[in-house]
Amino acid sequence: MKAIVLKAYGGVDQLEEREVPAPREGPGEVLIKVAAASVNPIDWKLRSGEAKEIMPLTLPEILGRDVSGEVLEVGAGVTAFKPGDKVLGLVMRSWAQQVAAKVDALARLPDRLDLHEAAALPLVLLTGAQLIEEAMKLQKGQTVLVTGAVGSVGRVAVFLAKQLGARVIAGVRKTQKAQAAELGADSVVALDDEAELAALPELDAIADTVGHETIGKLIPHLKKGGTLGSAVGEPPAAKGKPINVRAFMAHPDSKRLGELAACVARKELRIPIAKRFLLAQTAQAQELAERGAGGKVLITM
Ligand SMILES: NC(=O)c1ccc[n+]([C@@H]2O[C@H](COP(=O)([O-])OP(=O)(O)OC[C@H]3O[C@@H](n4cnc5c(N)ncnc54)[C@H](OP(=O)(O)O)[C@@H]3O)[C@@H](O)[C@H]2O)c1
Repeated sequence: MKAIVLKAYGGVDQLEEREVPAPREGPGEVLIKVAAASVNPIDWKLRSGEAKEIMPLTLPEILGRDVSGEVLEVGAGVTAFKPGDKVLGLVMRSWAQQVAAKVDALARLPDRLDLHEAAALPLVLLTGAQLIEEAMKLQKGQTVLVTGAVGSVGRVAVFLAKQLGARVIAGVRKTQKAQAAELGADSVVALDDEAELAALPELDAIADTVGHETIGKLIPHLKKGGTLGSAVGEPPAAKGKPINVRAFMAHPDSKRLGELAACVARKELRIPIAKRFLLAQTAQAQELAERGAGGKVLITM
């Protein structure tokens, strides 16, 4: 099969299309004929070596976490899926024509969800959900600021925080304020506007998908004993502060993935897709996503 292989840590020139042996499904796994994959920030953090302390790679390696496609074969003990089923999932090595994955990483494609577009969803849906529901355990009535709110994870966090009955402030760049109006948040704040930051109310919680100096400026607005949930690691600025910091890594969750993908299919939640590339153009796809595509970048087979 064809796959995109990372030869060595570095730039996108280290990504190469190669003919490699197809994977075989083990017990409890299925083999998927990939329809599409997508690009996530973790892919370029892995490619460059920035993430090698937390996720070391044995190179050469195939990257890619999101997949959508059709089940080709099922391994021993698999009853949840059969050949021909359409699925989406949070897997490893999805920048390839075939992927072997554990069944608990997969959900059935909901009705009315495009098979290719489904590949934009697994990592961002699960990260947004696990940020709000598991890491932060956000409660009804709390005031929460979501940073990077028009980003893919941020949108999911805003959606779920609203569903829970929280008062949600969408934190975005000044230039993204018009775009943020569609999110359904209670208010929008420009995180790069000092006057708007100064006018923030006291926050019960922050759901952070941005990090860096931005979170440093927001921590003083978090109440004593408040919760900072982070998808981007524990910020140094939180050290020694009387707040609860909950940094986490997303994990597969078949049931929640299926439920949230159904919300996208019903158009209750929108994850914009910026551009599609073919597998052979994966380096260009990653380059665009890393530069900032303004939405998900898909890789189709
Ligand atoms: N912990 C985990 O398991 C996990 C899982 C998935 C993702 N993540 C991390 O979560 C982060 C977000 O991922 P994503 O897929 O949502 O990326 P994304 O779609 O690119 O969203 C990031 C958003 O944050 C905005 N942003 C960046 N810097 C900002 C700043 N200084 N002020 C205001 N807004 C800013 C971006 O705007 P621009 O486009 O204008 O820069 C964009 O709208 C990434 O760092 C990713 O690695 C972690």
